[in-house]
Amino acid sequence: MSASAPAPAPAAAALQAVGITKRFGADTVVDGVSLEVPTGSTVCILGPSGAGKTTFLRCLNGLEKMDSGAVLLDGELLAYEHRGDHLRELRPSAAARQRRAIGMVFQSFNLFPHLSVRDNVMVGPTKVLGQPKGEVGPRAMDLLTRVGLGDKADRYPLELSGGQQQRVAIARALAMQPKVVLFDEPTSALDPELVNEVLDVMRDLAQSGMTMIVVTHEIGFAREVADTVVFMDRGRVAESGSTRDVLDNPASERTRAFFSKVI
Ligand SMILES: Nc1ncnc2c1ncn2[C@@H]1O[C@H](COP(=O)(O)OP(=O)(O)O)[C@@H](O)[C@H]1O
Ligand SMILES: [Mg+2]
Repeated sequence: MSASAPAPAPAAAALQAVGITKRFGADTVVDGVSLEVPTGSTVCILGPSGAGKTTFLRCLNGLEKMDSGAVLLDGELLAYEHRGDHLRELRPSAAARQRRAIGMVFQSFNLFPHLSVRDNVMVGPTKVLGQPKGEVGPRAMDLLTRVGLGDKADRYPLELSGGQQQRVAIARALAMQPKVVLFDEPTSALDPELVNEVLDVMRDLAQSGMTMIVVTHEIGFAREVADTVVFMDRGRVAESGSTRDVLDNPASERTRAFFSKVI
């Protein structure tokens, strides 16, 4: 072995957001937000209502067109390509193809009510990715079993509780075999007694090595699962760092004031 063998490269961030800015009219609702999410890590984003958390997630996965900034997934720029010394926008179909690697779980589940639970999980891989049903079906069943719903495959979403619907939504996101999953307040629409069954699934997912960004008000979950906590306020990152530093020893007055109300 050569003594001058290069040191192994540090693990690349799965997702990098650089200076994301989004305006609605005169309002800058996301203002230069940067974030690095290492592969296999979980970042929790906390912050008051209206801070721009949802808009930031929507910029990451292209549901919202940002005014400036860039998103890189495994080092690859999303939605643009370098042409000489400037950037050119990719065609929408090419950008959409890249973004399939970013899964999203919404506060309001967003399942297709007319499709069975199994078909909700299968529809992305079969219709969007063109994968054969024979291959996707068993994978969908594995995912439903993993979220504790193997016995509900033939039910319809509205026959399930909110917690069960949200677990189907997680299975559906995973069926696309994403590199990163974004969660936007996944338990905020649930009755309190249903919150934990969803957080349990998310905790397992984090422990299995999935890369996750979770917007949540569940401080206990953040404390237990997050590697990094980001506190957003008025469109900006007011504070970010290790979970312990931010939750137990917040540096900014704004973060302290927020936590004194929610913890
Ligand atoms: N489509 C939109 N058009 C205009 N304003 C919007 C739109 N979406 C969000 N906003 C505004 O952007 C700000 C941030 O909203 P949001 O990202 O939903 O915050 P959070 O998720 O932290 O509660 C709010 O003031 C909201 O009213
Ligand atoms: Mg929101």
